This record gives sequence, C-alpha cells and structure tokens, in this order.
Amino acid sequence: MGFNIAIDGPAGAGKSTIARRAAEELGFVYVDTGAMYRAIAVYLLQKGIPPEEKEQVEAAVKEIQVSIAYEEGEQQVLLNGENVTSWLRREEVGRMASSVSAIPAVRQALFELQRSLAEKEDVIMDGRDIGTAILPNAELKIYLTASVETRARRRCLELSQKGEEADLAEVEKDIRERDERDMNRETAPLRQAPDAIYLDTSHMTIEEVVGKIKTLCQRRRQCEG
Ligand code: DC
Repeated sequence: MGFNIAIDGPAGAGKSTIARRAAEELGFVYVDTGAMYRAIAVYLLQKGIPPEEKEQVEAAVKEIQVSIAYEEGEQQVLLNGENVTSWLRREEVGRMASSVSAIPAVRQALFELQRSLAEKEDVIMDGRDIGTAILPNAELKIYLTASVETRARRRCLELSQKGEEADLAEVEKDIRERDERDMNRETAPLRQAPDAIYLDTSHMTIEEVVGKIKTLCQRRRQCEG
C-alpha cells in the first residue's frame, strides 16, 4: 500500500491545482477522480442520454471502460480506449458529471479503479468521497474549501484566461447548484471525514496551501517512522 493523501472538497476549491502541485513537489502520483466521472459524462453526452434517465445511464455504464494513463506526469483519461482528456473541462461535462455521479451504478463503476491506483503508489487523490469512502485509511486527509464567492471569482478568472466569456453571477449560481447536488445526494455525498483537516483557502495563496499540505505530510511520515 502506498502513502495516500485524500483531498476532498466542493467544486472550485482549487483541489486539482493544489493536489497536482503538491504531488509534483512530494514525488507522488496525482489522481483526479473528477476526471473519471467527467469521462462517463462525455459518453452520456455523446449518446444523448439525459441524467434523469437512470435506467439508460445504468445500461450505458456497462458499455463504458474508463482507464487512466500518464503522459509526462499528466493524467490522461481513456474512455473505451480513446483519450478524452481534452473534452473533460467543458462546463456541460461538469454539470452532467455532477448529476450522474449521484447514481450508485456510476460510482460503483469507478470504485475499483480508484482503489487499485492507491494500492500501488504514493498518491494524492482528489474528489468528493475519497477520505470518506474510497480511501478511508488514507494517511492524510484534507477537506479543502473556500467561500462560494471566492470559488466563483477564481473560476471566472480561469475561464477568462482560457479566452472564454464568463459571467460572475452565472458561475456563482452554477457553483451553488453543484454544491447542492454534491452535498445532498444519497450515495457518497460530499462530507468532511471526521479525521480530515479542514483548510479554508479563501485567504490563502496556492503556495501557502501546498506548503501546508507538505508540512502535514512530512509530520505524518515522521509519526509513521
Ligand atoms: O472535481 P470535478 O469538478 O472534476 O468533479 C466533477 C463532478 O464529479 C462533481 O461535481 C461531482 C463528481 N465527483 C464525485 O461525485 N466524486 C468524486 N470523487 C469526484 C467527482
């Protein structure tokens, strides 16, 4: 079993930026589980299957094989063997992923893949249920969050840096809806694990958060001997 760091938190809290950077500096493998849900969302969008059609989604999941590979340290997501990484960050893909991730069959389809990755390597895995369900014995658990307003501002900045138009009020509304779905679904809702460290990054820089995680990791490793 590798040394596992679980990072959970709501959309836009900066999990992937922080986890990617911390993994690089610690020499860990970064596993982005949201990207796996997004790959399933890409398939459903391609097939025109709406998220409310639970039975159709369940049938589709049986046709899907999600796997991951690394290219120059960057996680690539393969959907039935095809690299779909460049499609994953689209807004409609994120919305679909948030809706269908509430369906137990969708979560079940990704469970083994996520667990097996953490068995082999030292990983930093981010998502919504990593500390609570996927890696309950992770050596270090972080619950990373920020205010809705901060998350919306960061998301707008990210979109405008990509040359995409973004309306702050719209982005904020989308984040609130996503929080509502991710935190209130029946299966594996987003929750802070009782043994997770709560980090509100609203007034922290990326460097400060990464530094904090590295310090916590070093302390845990010392305790483990
Ligand atoms: O982290 P993200 O925005 O890429 O995730 C997209 C959606 O996938 C998110 O709204 C909820 C879902 N998700 C999940 O249910 N469990 C995870 N471990 C990761 C993501």
